[in-house]
Amino acid sequence: MILYYTGTGNSEYVAQRLAKTSGLPVDCINDRIKAGDHSPISIDGPLVVVTPTYSWRIPRLVRDWLLATPLEGASCIYFVMNCGGNIANAGKYNKEIAQALGLEYRGTAQIVMPENYVAMFQVPDDAESKRIVRAADPAIDQVAALISKGTALVGNKVGLLGRFLSGPVNEGFYKHYIKSEAFHVDVDKCLTCGLCAELCPTNAITLDDTGHPVWGEGCTHCMACICHCPAEAIEYGKKSVGKRRYLCPQD
Ligand SMILES: Cc1cc2nc3c(=O)[nH]c(=O)nc-3n(C[C@H](O)[C@H](O)[C@H](O)COP(=O)(O)O)c2cc1C
Repeated sequence: MILYYTGTGNSEYVAQRLAKTSGLPVDCINDRIKAGDHSPISIDGPLVVVTPTYSWRIPRLVRDWLLATPLEGASCIYFVMNCGGNIANAGKYNKEIAQALGLEYRGTAQIVMPENYVAMFQVPDDAESKRIVRAADPAIDQVAALISKGTALVGNKVGLLGRFLSGPVNEGFYKHYIKSEAFHVDVDKCLTCGLCAELCPTNAITLDDTGHPVWGEGCTHCMACICHCPAEAIEYGKKSVGKRRYLCPQD
């Protein structure tokens, strides 16, 4: 069973391609996370968790959901992390999650996909995004083949910098950087469609009396609201102004 969480579609792309190549069933856990749904999931065969990389580890909200959800029938777990650059020492923490779940750890794969962190960086244009996705396809298929054979994934050697990024930098990122205050909406552009609130995996967005979004506690910086907004009415302080938005290309 392949379970994926996504903000802007890259993890969905990777999970669907893995499913097609491996024949494993696939499911999205965004709605379960949003609803705080920890009802048991029945797993037949290997469990494969596909996620974006948030500050050089799997997103904390996925970790917390996994640790609180009975994964019935699962015996082993693979992690497939997609990223704009690299996952550094994420595997170490994924191994700890596997141990806490009582599952055999079968390794972590890194798949480089387009950068989506528009609150921090420029994101690639359509042509470049498609080029990056096409370049990722063979790596995804290789991971699918290893999973199908039941082979463990072997990670790259991680140096001091990688350990620092996935360790103290990750901790500091969640403590000091992930905040929602900078998000705001241009009411003249906002269509009051409510898509941002609907997509927010942490329910950090509510709609006011006029249907405009208001950001509260719990944001995890997934970039779903800002990138899916059909009117590009959402900004993150001044950092996102004038920048293109990112969604995984559909073809
Ligand atoms: C909050 C946040 C943190 C990120 N941190 C990293 C990172 O540490 N390393 C990296 O290579 N990419 C990082 N990225 C980029 C994403 O992991 C990458 O673009 C991913 O493919 C997005 O997947 P999605 O479309 O399924 O949400 C980050 C993106 C966000 C939004």
